[in-house]
Amino acid sequence: MSKDIVQIFDTTLRDGEQVPGCKLDMEQKLVIAERLEELGVNIIEAGFPISSPGDFKSVDSISKLIKKTTVCGLTRAVEKDIKVAAEALQHAKRPRIHTGLGTSESHIKFKFNSNQDAIIERAVKAVSYAKSFVEDVEFFAEDAGRTENEFLARICEAVIKAGATVLNIPDTTGYCLPEEYGSKIKYLKENVTGIDKAVLSCHCHNDLGLATANSIAGAVNGARQIECTINGIGERAGNTSLEEVVMVMRQHPTLNIDTTVNSRLLFDTSRMVSQKMGVVVQPNKAIVGANAFAHSSGIHQDGVIKNRETYEIIDPADVGVNESSIVLTARSGRAALAYRAKIVGYELTKTQLDDVYDEFLKFADTRKEVLDADIHQIVETSKADLQSVG
Ligand code: KIV
Ligand code: ZN
Repeated sequence: MSKDIVQIFDTTLRDGEQVPGCKLDMEQKLVIAERLEELGVNIIEAGFPISSPGDFKSVDSISKLIKKTTVCGLTRAVEKDIKVAAEALQHAKRPRIHTGLGTSESHIKFKFNSNQDAIIERAVKAVSYAKSFVEDVEFFAEDAGRTENEFLARICEAVIKAGATVLNIPDTTGYCLPEEYGSKIKYLKENVTGIDKAVLSCHCHNDLGLATANSIAGAVNGARQIECTINGIGERAGNTSLEEVVMVMRQHPTLNIDTTVNSRLLFDTSRMVSQKMGVVVQPNKAIVGANAFAHSSGIHQDGVIKNRETYEIIDPADVGVNESSIVLTARSGRAALAYRAKIVGYELTKTQLDDVYDEFLKFADTRKEVLDADIHQIVETSKADLQSVG
């Protein structure tokens, strides 16, 4: 049975780039946008055109550059924003306007000093106006994670009637539990008249470390777009990480959903974005962290050397990492030492390995990690010790 495709909406250049310290210049944005297209994402959110002349120019330049991927610009539910976004997107081969407003009780009361009916009216007006410029209009219900489902269904129904093609259900504050978020999507699938005319989209933040789980729960319950960023960069604790959702779907065929992303470009893209944004990827980050395929404990190393799959659920080559690495530390065993020693040119017999291993442990206790260059020194010291005893 062929799998359903979940569209990947990348917002590295919008939700990601708005993080303090992650600002990119135009050249950097263009290089990243080109890479995102090569990676196989379906939508690139290129910026928030009204927010600054720089953002307007980025959306405009990315629109001119990108060949087949949809290019999207964010707006508030404000006419001026929408008009400016339409202008910035005018050269895009596939333009999308992403407009919306807060729908939770606290947003309606404190941000807008308004009421539910007036919010629906404003949403419909914004979508209809956006629709006068482009065919593809995505509506976002900010703080949908804390919006009651009945109201969310009402506003979704109204904006579909006004022509919305995509309904973004953001867990803006990263508050939802996976089951709760999944049920919200299911509720909308089952209770919104006309839902078949629009795609439901997950946009999850990672405040409780649940963004990936929530997005997958949404897709399992019928959402067919996930909004995410490279390295999970984004407001506060970040957005859903693109590499994580892509690999969850790839590694779990029984979910019956997949993406069009070329996973072999994931590692390189992660490094490229990290370097351009000046934000280091945490070493233990799933899929793309420096330690994601590194094994340091003796038991694990022995298992991986015998058969990679004992401790690895992903073939590193599938995400563009050359090989699993066996990192030598004081916790490493003889199998790991023999393995790395062979790589640097020493084929050790069992007796030689026993001798070198004693020397290795003494050395490893003084270091966080034993490097290939250290192995030479350890082997040579061990040989010299043996000769002096002999
Ligand atoms: O997190 C959020 O709610 C957003 C919207 C603007 C889509 O980023
Ligand atoms: Zn967001």
